Amino acid sequence: MTEPHAALDNLSTENRKFPPSDEFAAQANATAALYEEADADREAFWAEQAERLSWDAKWTQVLDWSNAPFAKWFVGGRLNVAYNCVDRHVESGHGEQVAIHWEGEPGDSRTITYADLQREVSKAANALVELGVGAEDRVAIYMPMVPEAIFSMLACARLGALHSVVFGGFSAEALRTRIEDSRAKLVITTDGQYRRGKSAALKPAVDEAVAKAGSVEHVLVVKRTNSDVEWTEGRDVWWHDLVDRQSEQHTPEAFDSEHPLFILYTSGTTGNPKGILHTSGGYLTQASYTHHAVFDLKPDTDVYWCTADIGWVTGHSYIVYGPLSNRVTQVVYEGTPDTPDKGRHWQIVQKYGVSIYYTAPTLIRTFMKWGADIPAGYDLSSLRVLGSVGEPINPEAWIWYRETIGAGKTPVVDTWWQTETGAIMISPLPGATAAKPGSAQRPLPGIGAKVVDDQGNEVPHGGGGYLVLDEPWPAMLRGIWGDEQRYRDTYWSRFGEQGYYFAGDGAKYDADGDIWLLGRVDDVMNVSGHRISTTEVESALVSHPTVAEAAVVGATDATTGQGIVAFVILRGGVAEGSDGAEAIKALRDHVAKEIGPIAKPRQIMVVPELPKTRSGKIMRRLLRDVAENRQVGDVTTLADSSVMDLISQGLKTGSP
Ligand code: WT7
Repeated sequence: MTEPHAALDNLSTENRKFPPSDEFAAQANATAALYEEADADREAFWAEQAERLSWDAKWTQVLDWSNAPFAKWFVGGRLNVAYNCVDRHVESGHGEQVAIHWEGEPGDSRTITYADLQREVSKAANALVELGVGAEDRVAIYMPMVPEAIFSMLACARLGALHSVVFGGFSAEALRTRIEDSRAKLVITTDGQYRRGKSAALKPAVDEAVAKAGSVEHVLVVKRTNSDVEWTEGRDVWWHDLVDRQSEQHTPEAFDSEHPLFILYTSGTTGNPKGILHTSGGYLTQASYTHHAVFDLKPDTDVYWCTADIGWVTGHSYIVYGPLSNRVTQVVYEGTPDTPDKGRHWQIVQKYGVSIYYTAPTLIRTFMKWGADIPAGYDLSSLRVLGSVGEPINPEAWIWYRETIGAGKTPVVDTWWQTETGAIMISPLPGATAAKPGSAQRPLPGIGAKVVDDQGNEVPHGGGGYLVLDEPWPAMLRGIWGDEQRYRDTYWSRFGEQGYYFAGDGAKYDADGDIWLLGRVDDVMNVSGHRISTTEVESALVSHPTVAEAAVVGATDATTGQGIVAFVILRGGVAEGSDGAEAIKALRDHVAKEIGPIAKPRQIMVVPELPKTRSGKIMRRLLRDVAENRQVGDVTTLADSSVMDLISQGLKTGSP
């Protein structure tokens, strides 16, 4: 954050507005009155939202912020999160309502009612107990989007055990570091997963990770692809052997509102991912409230679909906890959007009559590239709300989304939030906001956010700066697992004097005071809505024997938002007579092995030197200029100003 960021200069001039139709506004869950209500008494407002849930014991205090930045919400309250997402809906007479229309990639499907979900989660909870899992134990979940992944998360919640879901696209090495950091005693996985019509093994990565991570006692394996797996007797257990024979009854126990619910690792500005810790009552309150207000969910009539993977926070808050607490009927899809063809999502929307669809800008831009003809071949008339998350959505993509997918009628909600915030923070309300393409607009009722300058002073309308959150919120992270200091340093020291949470995003106000997010201002890249740190990719590169030094930048990419571009100095240079292509391929594969395919650089450039300041800091700004084919900016602070010429002359470039 020491370098000025290009994002801050990117002040958009978009000024179209799309108010909701009168019909939509008249039936909306959330109206403009909510803002006034929350402003009048923020804590009373949140207490009212918490009444959405079933509590075994009511709280005695809404917020305890006396030990800031460690918040306690709904102090003294007790609840069971899984009970709130499952059992209470069965008890209120909705056992036969479909909770999940599950669609497998190869075309198989499953219909899971709330009564089914209660049985499945209870059996899974009983199975976990048999494996010795109890409250506060950590369970790693490394699975594709199969129903058992959701059963597993809810079984943990039911027992008060913390799940740590690790995205199935991460490598064995990434899984190992996450298992070790959380000291998980159980890993739940599958034999393999379907990806683009083929099955790929998953369990070997678990075997490799667990061999090195000492804490794991058991590996519970769901059979999905029927692939051969190696088996460690005494440690490995098949889901169908253990879970299927369990009792369908399990009595949920109430836990303290601040009982930990899950850890989710996310990239920071250093090499080690941070274990973001979330707790129960406040998290579920905000996940539930935002899902109800922002997506306008009507549990009796809507069919909701969030296309995220449970490996990311969006899957936690807007597939599992928010929607299920609201008695949603939702679609869960296992596979990729182009299998068996590029119409798969629209075929699913048509098949189930999806009415609310929530996805990421990178996918919207991909659909744009594929062409409007594809969605035009399906009946999408059931859609009534569209959502976007993960990165700034450019106005062209926003308009295309509304026109082509939403028939020019549906509200589009651009939702800003983070793994750390746990739930949506800044977003239009679909029935109350005149939406502006590309702007997340206003903090939701109950949320405080501001754009401030370097000193922490709020900037005037029209001005740009840093996004901060100036009021504690119920779903806020309660810390970084095992690292209190890093929690304080990362989020609370930048504007410590004011006591603001520093989000790491650049933002600006337009003339109306609406907020436009402009991208990260730290060394975190956003690739297809996934957060990847430059340092993490650099560490992976330099761990390869041929690399002497590496610098990584996120360069603007028309589809993925940012693309990873790496500059490497090879030990001994590029071999005579070679164009470096082989070395570059080896490096890309190495990064995939160290972190996962999502971290593979889009481009690797072999360079003789890296641009550094006199104090040795790499000037990424100049590398971004090269990566984005721009005139290289001011080089006067370089220790050796001829370096940039050397780089431009001697580039050996490798792209996929
Ligand atoms: C970062 C958080 C929240 C779930 C997915 C990502 C960026 C997220 C938006 C948006 C502009 C956005 C920010 C943020 N981001 N949503 N609507 N507009 N930027 O969660 O991996 O924790 O990443 O994603 O840069 O800081 P995450």
